[in-house]
Amino acid sequence: MTPEPLRTAVLISGRGSNMAALVKASDARGCPYRVDLVLANDPDAPGLAFARERGIATWARSHKGMKRAEFDALLDAELRKAGIELIALAGYMRLLSPEFIARWEGRILNIHPSLLPLYKGLDTHQRAIDAGDSKAGCSVHVVTVELDDGPVIDRAEVPILPGDTAADLAARVLAEEHGLYARALAGFARTLQG
Ligand code: GAR
Repeated sequence: MTPEPLRTAVLISGRGSNMAALVKASDARGCPYRVDLVLANDPDAPGLAFARERGIATWARSHKGMKRAEFDALLDAELRKAGIELIALAGYMRLLSPEFIARWEGRILNIHPSLLPLYKGLDTHQRAIDAGDSKAGCSVHVVTVELDDGPVIDRAEVPILPGDTAADLAARVLAEEHGLYARALAGFARTLQG
């Protein structure tokens, strides 16, 4: 018998194009994850509209003025209420507290716009261009307490072309992110299903 798809939440902070790609990919027959909840730390995050149009439950609240652990406890409560089993960070631009990460250990994935372990943190594309690299890309990894540091599940590469701006490179990488994340999340969900 085919196991039930894992109940999955996606955390976003803005545009949400990776979240949309994950949702669209989950329409495929036999997809081992299902996006049940989209959470944002910004009520104005543009990606929320896509989730709502698709009939996916959303939760959004600004983290401003709240301690990290306090905000993450709210997230945790929503995730538990929805029976979530797997979390995908998709442009979620806020560090998670160690308590939250421990609670969801081995069940949080992130997509990062660089070929990890290169260029953890911000401004990845400009840093790759400034270093004179010939290639860039994106990585999906398991989230651990150290920023952008957990085990890498999969990566996709793109060339850096002469004259590329950070925006040119970001667009080329983003086009790869969508497919990479959907594949990596599905593969990871299958391993959790056992
Ligand atoms: C993506 O490029 C993602 O890799 C990056 O933010 C963008 C979000 O786009 N994430 C990070 O930089 C995390 N450190 P999206 O909202 O359209 O998915």
